[in-house]
Amino acid sequence: MSLKKEIQKRRTFAIISHPDAGKTTLTEKLLLFGGAIHIAGAVKSNKIKKTATSDWMEIEKQRGISVATSVMGFEYHDHKINILDTPGHQDFAEDTYRTLTAVDSVIVVVDVAKGVEVQTRKLMDVCRMRNTPVMIFVNKLDREGRDPFDILDELEKELEIKIRPLSWPIEMGERFKGVYNLYKKSLDLFQPSKQTVTKSIAVKDINKDDLEKHIGNKLAETLREEVELITGVYPDFDREEYLAGKLAPVFFGSALNNFGVKELLDCFIDIAPSPRPIKAEERKVDPYEDAFTGFVFKIHANMDPNHRSRIAFVRVCSGKFERNVNYKHVRFDRMMRFSSPTAFMAQKKEILDEAFAGDIVGLPDTGNFKIGDTLTSGEDLHFKGLPSFSPEMFKYIENADPMKSKQLQKGIEQLMDEGVAQLFTHQFNGRKIIGTVGQLQFEVIEYRLLNEYGAKSRWEPINLYKACWIESENAEELADFKKRKYQYMAHDKQGRDVFLAESNYMLMMAQQDFKNITFHFTSEF
Ligand code: G4P
Repeated sequence: MSLKKEIQKRRTFAIISHPDAGKTTLTEKLLLFGGAIHIAGAVKSNKIKKTATSDWMEIEKQRGISVATSVMGFEYHDHKINILDTPGHQDFAEDTYRTLTAVDSVIVVVDVAKGVEVQTRKLMDVCRMRNTPVMIFVNKLDREGRDPFDILDELEKELEIKIRPLSWPIEMGERFKGVYNLYKKSLDLFQPSKQTVTKSIAVKDINKDDLEKHIGNKLAETLREEVELITGVYPDFDREEYLAGKLAPVFFGSALNNFGVKELLDCFIDIAPSPRPIKAEERKVDPYEDAFTGFVFKIHANMDPNHRSRIAFVRVCSGKFERNVNYKHVRFDRMMRFSSPTAFMAQKKEILDEAFAGDIVGLPDTGNFKIGDTLTSGEDLHFKGLPSFSPEMFKYIENADPMKSKQLQKGIEQLMDEGVAQLFTHQFNGRKIIGTVGQLQFEVIEYRLLNEYGAKSRWEPINLYKACWIESENAEELADFKKRKYQYMAHDKQGRDVFLAESNYMLMMAQQDFKNITFHFTSEF
C-alpha cells in the first residue's frame, strides 16, 4: 500500500470526559467492534479509579498496567484506528493535555443527567486552543436525564462551540426507545434487555415513512416535530466546520448498552480527519512528506522499578518510521536507532517494523528523552507541544539526606522531563518549588524519588495562588517589576521569568500597578 493510502486510512483520537461519564465503557465497546478485545470488562481492569486519592500506590500500579492500553490500535472497515487513552484521575490532567497534542480529533463523552462538568470544560479549552475537531457522545440515555434540547444549549454555551445533532433520542430512561439517526437517516431501536441496536430501519422521508409502526403515533409525531425544530434551528452539518474545530456533531446513546456506539464509530471513520499537518516551530509538517518526523508526547516510567525503565511515546508526524533505521535525536544532535520499538494493539504490546504518520510508537528509553523531543530522518525541527499551565498547588522541595543531593537533583530533573510536574526556582534564594495540579502528584514524586533514585525529599508548604509567566515590551518597567517583586520571582525549567502570586488580590494589584506587563497563565504566548 502506498504511503499516502496508509496515512489516509488512519484515525488517531482520544476519548475525553469528566470522570464517570462513560469514557472507559465507550472505549471498551469500540474495541469490541474492532475485534480488538472479546470480552467486556477487559479495559475496566486498567481503569484508574478517580476517587481513591488515599490509595495512590494502587493508582501507580494501575498506571503501570495501563501502559499496555495507553494506545489501542485496531483495524475497522479498512481503517486503522488509534485510540489514545487518557488518565481518569484529574490529578493527572496534565498527562491528558499532553496526549491531546498527539491526536487528530477527539470524542467527548457527556452524561445526559449531568451535562457539562468541570473536567469536560477544561479539556475542551485545550481542544479549542489547537482547533481539534470534536465529536460529542451524550451517554446514559437508558437513565433519566436532562431534556435533550437543554443539553444541546448547554453544550454550545459551556463548550463554546457550535453544535449539530446527528442523532436524536426518542424518550429516555425506562421509556427510551432509541434514536433517529440524522446522519444515516435511520430509526435505530433499543430494547433494554438486548445489548446493541436491536433494529435499524432506513427512513427515506421522516414525514412520509411509517414510523408509527415502530414507535407508536404519539412518539412518531413528537419525533417529527423535534426533527423539524432541529433542522430549523441548526444549519446542515458542515464537515469543513467540524474539521476546523468550530462545530461539534452530537450523538446520543448508551455506551453500557452498546447503543449508538457502532453508529458513532461508522460516522466517525467517515468524517473524522486522517492525520493532519502538525506545526513545528520552523514550519508546518505535512503527514505525507517522505522524511520521517515524530515527537515525544508522553513518557511512561516505573514499569519495572528495578530497571528504571521508561517508554517514550512518539507520535509519527510525517512519513514512515522503521525499526533499526538511524534517526536524528534533534536536541542531542545525535543519531539513534531502535531495535525494539513497540506498537500497541489493544491489549498487547508487540515489536513493530514500521509505523506511519498518525501512529504511536513506543520507544524503550533510559533517560534520553524528554517531552517534546523530535526524532527525524530529515531536517532539524522542533515541535511546539503544549504550553504548561499554571499549576494549582505548590510546595518547596528540600533534600532530606545530605549524602544524596546529586541523586535528588537527577531525580527531579528526570521527573520534570517526563512532565510529572513543574519546577520553579526562586530567583533570590535558589529554593526549588514543585507545582502540580493535585496532591497526588506530590506523593507520586516523593515515592519515585526515593524508590527510583534513592533520594529522600522533604516538603514544605508554600502559599501560592498562581505562577504567571510575564512579558513586556517595556524593558524598563519589566526590570522595575522584577526588582520590586524580587522575593516573588522564579525561573521555570527553561529559565523564563515567572511571577509567583500569593493571592488573587496580589495579582490584581500587580496587574494594576504594571500596566505594560502581561501576565500569562500558560507558558506559551
Ligand atoms: P469514566 O471512564 O468516564 O470514568 O466512566 P466509566 O466508563 O467507568 O463509567 C462510569 C459508570 O457509568 C460505570 O458504572 C458505568 O458502568 C456507567 N455507565 C457507563 N455508560 C453507561 C450507560 O450508557 N448507561 C448507564 N446506566 N450507565 C453507564 P460504575 O457503577 O461506576 O462502574 P461499574 O461497577 O459498572 O464498573
